[in-house]
Amino acid sequence: MKDKYSIIGPLYDFLATIYSFNQIDKCKTAMHDTIKTDDKVLFAGVGHGIDAIAAAERGAQVTVVDLSETMLARFNRGLRKKEFRHPIRQLHDNILNIDESSSYDFVFGNFFLNVFEEEMMLEILSQLVKLAKRKGYVVIGDFSLPTGNPVARFFQILYWRIADLIFWAAAQNALHPVYDYQKYMKQLGCKIKTVKYFRFLFDDRYYSILGQKK
Ligand SMILES: C[S@@+](CC[C@H](N)C(=O)[O-])C[C@H]1O[C@@H](n2cnc3c(N)ncnc32)[C@H](O)[C@@H]1O
Repeated sequence: MKDKYSIIGPLYDFLATIYSFNQIDKCKTAMHDTIKTDDKVLFAGVGHGIDAIAAAERGAQVTVVDLSETMLARFNRGLRKKEFRHPIRQLHDNILNIDESSSYDFVFGNFFLNVFEEEMMLEILSQLVKLAKRKGYVVIGDFSLPTGNPVARFFQILYWRIADLIFWAAAQNALHPVYDYQKYMKQLGCKIKTVKYFRFLFDDRYYSILGQKK
């Protein structure tokens, strides 16, 4: 299968950092204080994986999944010389093929679900919820829903659309409005426990949502 991230993959984290003035990185680890030693934590579409490495540094048992060889190669560069309580388990696969229902204390989808058309996004979100244990957590970090007055909303939408267009051109991501992940998480039986927002240029641009499976 073609690696959609073969060109933009190596630049991914650099672009995210400059586009968000580091807010994306902060968003990706915003819920890490709830991860405990030995927790089983899965990162779907891990990319370069600063969030997965930070979880392993907290002593969690981390599994990462990604379809892109390029992204996993970058992830492995980030691992150099690092030692953890539990070695990180890496799966080069489609998240939909991971047949480990109710296995994880935490399932992360950071800046992952926005890659897909709505129908596929819902199938994948439902798989993330399935992978979490009963009472386990699903964490989604992504662009936040536009809020505020019409001018603020216009700029928030524009900000998302520029990023979406760049990744549509570079990695064939879907073109779509910002998704309401909290709504879908609730529909899939998660209780929203915490939402943390990250600001850039006067407005909230990103959020991390911690949902608990019933
Ligand atoms: C937009 S990047 C986000 C990477 C990372 N989570 C981050 O926050 O920087 C999306 C990642 O999801 C991976 N991906 C896309 N579809 C996938 C699938 N069906 N299963 C597993 N990984 C997938 C891509 O290869 C890419 O690494």
